[in-house]
Amino acid sequence: MSVSAIIAAAGSGERFGAGYPKALIQLGDRTLLEHAISALAPVADQIIVAAPVGFEQQISQLVGGGITVVSGGSTRSASVRNALAVVTSDFVLVHDAARALASTELARSVVTSLQSGNTAVVPGLLEVDTVKTIDASGRVTATLDRSELRRIQTPQGFSAKALRDAHASGKEATDDAALIELLGGTVNVIDGEERALKITTPSDLTAALTYLGFTNSFRTGIGTDAHAFATGRELWLAGLNWPGEEGVDGHSDGDVAAHAICDALFAATGLGDLGSNFGTDRPEYANASGSTLLQQTRELVTKAGYAISNVTVQIIGSKPKIGARRAEAIEAISKALGGVDVSVSATTTDGMGLTGEGKGIAAVASALVYKQ
Ligand code: CTP
Ligand code: MG
Repeated sequence: MSVSAIIAAAGSGERFGAGYPKALIQLGDRTLLEHAISALAPVADQIIVAAPVGFEQQISQLVGGGITVVSGGSTRSASVRNALAVVTSDFVLVHDAARALASTELARSVVTSLQSGNTAVVPGLLEVDTVKTIDASGRVTATLDRSELRRIQTPQGFSAKALRDAHASGKEATDDAALIELLGGTVNVIDGEERALKITTPSDLTAALTYLGFTNSFRTGIGTDAHAFATGRELWLAGLNWPGEEGVDGHSDGDVAAHAICDALFAATGLGDLGSNFGTDRPEYANASGSTLLQQTRELVTKAGYAISNVTVQIIGSKPKIGARRAEAIEAISKALGGVDVSVSATTTDGMGLTGEGKGIAAVASALVYKQ
């Protein structure tokens, strides 16, 4: 029996408020959409993503070949209908990209239930709160019997025919099973899972992170470095060579931005500092480039069981001017650190202090890491 998976990812994520589609929000090492795809891929022969209008190409590139991307509609039901039009299998899973952490096991249980002859299957969790209905003025009209309530999740599974019939009406609902119910069809509930929570607001993202093992595991560190200008030396700064600029003194290439970042990473992970790791008693690091030290630092950080979330560095000095090469600097540092988020800024000190007097360059950095 072949299975098509529709992933509804065309919402704008208003309640989350990221300013871009919710499916593209990063959760750990991947976007919500990529999590959803990797959970369903092992059970699906065809995967169709309904993308927000205008993001089709970006999403195609993100998800790679072998996955069909269609334009979403203005409602979730319309998005599912657009994807349903290209379904080729007899069975269909419909899943929300927002339920990024639903497991492959859950998808498999839904498919198993379809295989046993059910035409519409949804995962559901017991309701733990007391649920009341209210009227327009906010007055309670009834208290529902909690034991009869289930919180319904996705992936939901359907025979393709039943799902097409249900969507033929063009009606709207917040899930697909509701359209089957409108036609009087039978919908079966199987056990859902907490980790299939729908990520709606930023606090849901925090909850989702706990399922990925990110609990209380963030640590920050800061680092600073300064070097005096020295004649006859090339300038290396932020992983880049700066032709025509005055270089600085130092045991290594004197890249203060790279050194400050290394120190911030060592501080965050409790691994000492630049001196204790690459100091003068380690001759193999004499003249090591900033990029090499960043790479070595990353290796030590990884060995200690940490991953780098992001680093920021601010370069302090009256020269060189950073702005024009900021993007290059970010790229060089990020590359040396294995592709992490990097920001680079620069400032002067209004003519005061060593860097203000033009005697050298300084940098201050911060790093955020998390235990893996
Ligand atoms: N969805 C969709 N097409 C729409 C609206 C929603 O494919 N026109 C998808 C969303 O991308 C999401 C799922 O349906 O994966 C559930 O919707 P919801 O959690 O409400 O996401 P958004 O609509 O993006 O969020 P919000 O309602 O806060 O704007
Ligand atoms: Mg919505």
